[in-house]
Amino acid sequence: MPRRKVSIIGAGNVGATAAYYIAEKVIADIVMVDVVEGLTQAKALDFLHAGPMRRYDVSIRGTCQFSEIEDSDVVVITAGLPRKPGMDRMDLLKVNADIVKSASKSIAKYAPNSTVIVVSNPLDVMCHVAFRTTGFAVQRVIGMAGILDATRFRYFVAEELGCALTDVHAMVLGGHGDQMVPLPRFTTVAGIPITQMLEKSIIDRMVDRTRKGGAEIVAYLKTGSAYYAPAASVAEMVEAVITDRKTLAPCAVYVRGEYGIENLFIGLPVILGKNGVERIVELDLEKEELALLHESANAVRKGVEELKSFFAVH
Ligand code: LAC
Repeated sequence: MPRRKVSIIGAGNVGATAAYYIAEKVIADIVMVDVVEGLTQAKALDFLHAGPMRRYDVSIRGTCQFSEIEDSDVVVITAGLPRKPGMDRMDLLKVNADIVKSASKSIAKYAPNSTVIVVSNPLDVMCHVAFRTTGFAVQRVIGMAGILDATRFRYFVAEELGCALTDVHAMVLGGHGDQMVPLPRFTTVAGIPITQMLEKSIIDRMVDRTRKGGAEIVAYLKTGSAYYAPAASVAEMVEAVITDRKTLAPCAVYVRGEYGIENLFIGLPVILGKNGVERIVELDLEKEELALLHESANAVRKGVEELKSFFAVH
């Protein structure tokens, strides 16, 4: 069988760290593309030098040529500007839409059979740009955010309870913005809902910290945003698709009626496998949870409306 191939467009902190986490999984050869001359070449070579010790026997190439993504199984778009303190993810909308649109055109041309994972912010709106521009099937354009928001929630729960990080599973739905919807009823420790283990006031505090998880890091960093956890989230999604793992996790997906939402990218629980989004899982949400999800969807829809000009006939 030919080796699998993953391309990453944008070799900033998220893109480069994702390349590293994916390399360590030894599941595919990696191509890193960036418009900045020399950046990907340097990083690819540096990763390769570490290979004998870190034991990843994969090829890693750095290039400025988009044509080198040819025949990729998965293409990750991380290109775009990150947030600075005081900025909302939506503030990045116009500049990143141009970047994502141009990356998507190259993907449609050189990797027409790939699954696309979108990471650039504002995430849910950028998924629309990639979806409309590539013209790919809905199952093959997926946004990375729910896994990131959920891993943050998992960490906060584990820290609060003093239990193993890996025993905690969390569910966070909605857009990747301040109105995301962490779901305590579907967040468990070894199968036990946290609603049975923690007081409401403590859960509310963790929900709020999850919503502001990205901003907390932006405030510390000042010149950019988080990248280790976002990159690890990308690597999980890439692995699920490349190895057909059937991972159940929240991701931004195109919704056509599920949860009462129409024609919008928004974070929902899905099963990820070789066909991309293999299924959207419908949870039995309470009225209040559903209302929060719809509020979050409305915020995403506003961003999409702002970008109408990018979608031409759609
Ligand atoms: C965050 C950015 C990557 O949540 O959106 O950290």
